[in-house]
Amino acid sequence: MTELSVQTQTKRYPVYITPGALAQTGSIVAAQGTGRNTVVVTDHQVAEYFLERVVQSLKNAGFTCDSAVIPAGEKSKTPEQLARLYASFHKAGLTRSDSVVALGGGVVGDLAGFAAATWLRGVSLVQVPTSLLAQVDSSVGGKTGLDLPQGKNLVGAFYQPNAVIIDPLVLETLPGPYRADGMAEIIKYGFIADRTLLERIETKNCDQSWMIERCLRIKIHFIEKDEKDSGERMLLNFGHTVGHSIEKLTGFTRYSHGQAVAIGMVLAARMGEIMNRTKPGTTHRLVRILTEYGLPISTNLPVPELIDALRSDKKKLGRHIHFVLLHQPGEAFLHPMTPEEIQPVLEVASHD
Ligand SMILES: NC(=O)c1ccc[n+]([C@@H]2O[C@H](COP(=O)([O-])OP(=O)(O)OC[C@H]3O[C@@H](n4cnc5c(N)ncnc54)[C@H](O)[C@@H]3O)[C@@H](O)[C@H]2O)c1
Repeated sequence: MTELSVQTQTKRYPVYITPGALAQTGSIVAAQGTGRNTVVVTDHQVAEYFLERVVQSLKNAGFTCDSAVIPAGEKSKTPEQLARLYASFHKAGLTRSDSVVALGGGVVGDLAGFAAATWLRGVSLVQVPTSLLAQVDSSVGGKTGLDLPQGKNLVGAFYQPNAVIIDPLVLETLPGPYRADGMAEIIKYGFIADRTLLERIETKNCDQSWMIERCLRIKIHFIEKDEKDSGERMLLNFGHTVGHSIEKLTGFTRYSHGQAVAIGMVLAARMGEIMNRTKPGTTHRLVRILTEYGLPISTNLPVPELIDALRSDKKKLGRHIHFVLLHQPGEAFLHPMTPEEIQPVLEVASHD
């Protein structure tokens, strides 16, 4: 079993990556030395495939185990579903020494993570990510939260899990479009920090476990240097600044997160080339790879509207947005720009 370790200022925890790891959930939670009571939070779709296996594994390890099942999809990241989770925790008698197990994609991980962070001011949390995006990104790093009618991820907490259990075999049932969303993040890791990963993605010569481990090593490197996302961790936002604007402008319905990030990455790479900060040919390579993996590379959304959406970016520092640009494939840097500076370059980039 591959075991990575994350050391932040608040916690040190293991990340296990191994085919078949799901069946070891019980023994891994037991190794945390927490209480004997657990609640598994999952969504309806994931429950159908994997809930029974995880519950059985916990019971075999001697745990009392309840489950809370939310509807699948982003629409569940709400205060209403959070309140339902609190009610389930209460009903299960979950005490401060007990554990929440988040079994699912990024939606379950974010919502159950926030519920664990806030129930009795914080109980143990074990992330068992089942989507590619959650396995390479959201389950590690401690960002938890939910959406409000006013905006996405507006409420949240940094709350690191006690352990992360990644079983690449569960991806066999993941529908294609969600796989593509995860690939957008993997392609991002390659372009910001890992040329070997990029080459393997290009030649389709990579084992799933290898690829997940490679991405998580990059993510862990950034988390350990900058847990609260105020410096180097922001490089992980390559493509996300414009990507978030695209999602927001289209009401989070026309493009998935991964698709919006894919378009955002192309625009950021092209902007870098226009400003002579990015090696020529980088955008061409990015476009080729994204297309190969079925991801979009452009949008017809008007630039002035994208810029308006950018102005409310929650990662803004004063008037500046921490824009992520590439020196070349595999090397990224932060480039603070005001929306006024971004607009003309984005205009040219989006018409190229
Ligand atoms: N916390 C973070 O650092 C972070 C980072 C990136 C994204 N996110 C959040 O993650 C969310 C998106 O995550 P997502 O793409 O995993 O979406 P998701 O959780 O909605 O999962 C996508 C769909 O796939 C299904 N699914 C998941 N695993 C499956 C499997 N193995 N087999 C069959 N179906 C499966 C789910 O039921 C769902 O319908 C967003 O809310 C985003 O804000 C968080």
